[in-house]
Amino acid sequence: QDLTGLNTLRLVSHAAHYFRLDNEQQLPQVTQRRHAAGQDIYVLGGGSNLVLREHISKPVVHNQLKGIRLVEETDDVFIIEAAGGENWHDFVATCIGNGWYGLENLALIPGTVGACPVQNIGAYGVEVMDRIESVHAWDIEQGRSRLFSVADCAFSYRDSLFKKPAGQGYLITAVRFRLPKQWTPVTTYPDLKNDPALAQSPTAQQIFDAVCRIRQAKLPDPAQIGNAGSFFKNPIVSAGKQSQLKSDYPALVSYQQADGSYKLAAGWMIEQCGWKGKSLGPVGMHHRQALVLVNHGGATAADVLALADAVKASTQEKFGVTLEREPVLFD
Ligand code: EPU
Repeated sequence: QDLTGLNTLRLVSHAAHYFRLDNEQQLPQVTQRRHAAGQDIYVLGGGSNLVLREHISKPVVHNQLKGIRLVEETDDVFIIEAAGGENWHDFVATCIGNGWYGLENLALIPGTVGACPVQNIGAYGVEVMDRIESVHAWDIEQGRSRLFSVADCAFSYRDSLFKKPAGQGYLITAVRFRLPKQWTPVTTYPDLKNDPALAQSPTAQQIFDAVCRIRQAKLPDPAQIGNAGSFFKNPIVSAGKQSQLKSDYPALVSYQQADGSYKLAAGWMIEQCGWKGKSLGPVGMHHRQALVLVNHGGATAADVLALADAVKASTQEKFGVTLEREPVLFD
């Protein structure tokens, strides 16, 4: 199976064994394939946070499970369940259309519902961990369902159990969201705070529209040019390191965290290193958002990893800060 059209970086890639999962009745077949292959299975969602090698020998399961429903409504909350294969942005739009608010800041993030807890997607002041009630998964090896509470998921910035060794081997079948009826807008992120359209008591729809507008202006559309969103995490450093950097580079962009540490804007550092709009072979760092690695055409994982290494070496040398890749590598 050719995977080139199934990953948003549009890397040239081919899977030796591919299985499309359309309904939950097929889950035992995933387990059978796992046992027949004698090795782990890769689960593919929207392909928007992946670096795919050219030849993938492990079996690939493409999660196409669909369905969105209101499972419970109390005086205070809506509990909404969405299947793992649902497109994330379409799901957010459906929620807004039904009056289920709270996910609007996460509009237009590429990918699927099943992938949202894996890297704890976040944007414009909201992380999905703030809205998740539980994660429902299929234990591929054991061949049975498993329910994860929010605490089980061990969420943190762009991280969860599902990115760690202990969280491998699960296929996320559905995610439940807890959306309070007493909705309060989140407009703390600078881009939203400064948006005139959101000046007084904005509605969820207005925030949704503003986030779409900002993302469209800043971030390249994967349908136009291959990319996987932010290619690196924003690194977190100690207060001491931040103050040393701030005195060397007064324009440093940093955000203090609850525990006193600082998150640095990796895009700013990459730009300072001269990588903004620059290419290495068929890949480059985007001209409007230096944190986004783009494929100008025909690239492979090796091209991507070579540029990533070069960018990492630059920020290491200039700032003494190690960048960590955000997308997952399918080897
Ligand atoms: N900046 C530069 N030059 C650049 C890019 C950014 O100076 O080339 C500066 C900006 O001016 C701004 C700061 O860096 O002062 C932060 O930039 P931005 O608001 O664009 O956000 P980001 O930190 O680069 C993060 C997330 C995005 C998310 C936005 C908005 C990570 C790794 N990335 O990006 O998430 O959409 O904030 O909340 O945390 C993703 O994960 O794929 C993603 C797109």
